Amino acid sequence: MECFSSDEKFNQLYSTEISALASRHWTPLSVAREAAAFLAVGVNARILDIGSGVGKFCMIGAQFHPDAIFTGIEQRESLTQIAQLVSERLSLKNTIFLTGNFTDIDFTQYHHFYFYNAFYENLIDNDAIDQTVVQHPELFNLYNRKLYKQLNKLPAGTRIATFHSSENEMPSNYQVVGVGSNEDLKFWIKL
Ligand SMILES: C[S@@+](CC[C@H](N)C(=O)[O-])C[C@H]1O[C@@H](n2cnc3c(N)ncnc32)[C@H](O)[C@@H]1O
Repeated sequence: MECFSSDEKFNQLYSTEISALASRHWTPLSVAREAAAFLAVGVNARILDIGSGVGKFCMIGAQFHPDAIFTGIEQRESLTQIAQLVSERLSLKNTIFLTGNFTDIDFTQYHHFYFYNAFYENLIDNDAIDQTVVQHPELFNLYNRKLYKQLNKLPAGTRIATFHSSENEMPSNYQVVGVGSNEDLKFWIKL
């Protein structure tokens, strides 16, 4: 499908307003493809995108790995709705988009995870997606601690791809096993 051939074409699936946020907030196509290839291993892998935005990572993963299921959890309902609409337009059958805080998700329902520095918006003043959620530096620390605890409970062999991560959220029992073509993309496996 043509829209999966470049970032420019994929971003045209969205409104101008959403597309304008892509360079700072949505995963580049090449990064999404590499991350999804690392995560979509095993039979019917269930992959969770922690902070899924308008669904770009999940939809690219779903297109190239039809046997895996890509779920996104996103705190902004308006973004989840956009992800659902675009996914339907693309006739993708293996995406699920949920609205909520990742802290309410049972991570044991998923095999592998993708994380694009979702909490960073709490540290910056003028680069937020919008002002519809509370943003505060304390939330950056709180969410990192909660994610750390969730990841720490998962079984050996769990994979995570992080993009632009501060790595504060990664327990020491996860080992970096590779770096993407974009060096801000890292591949981790739990020991
Ligand atoms: C950098 S964007 C990445 C979007 C998507 N993963 C992608 O790569 O295209 C991070 C997203 O995480 C969401 N987010 C931040 N904190 C969250 C939380 N505690 N629970 C759920 N979503 C969160 C933000 O609303 C934002 O849409």
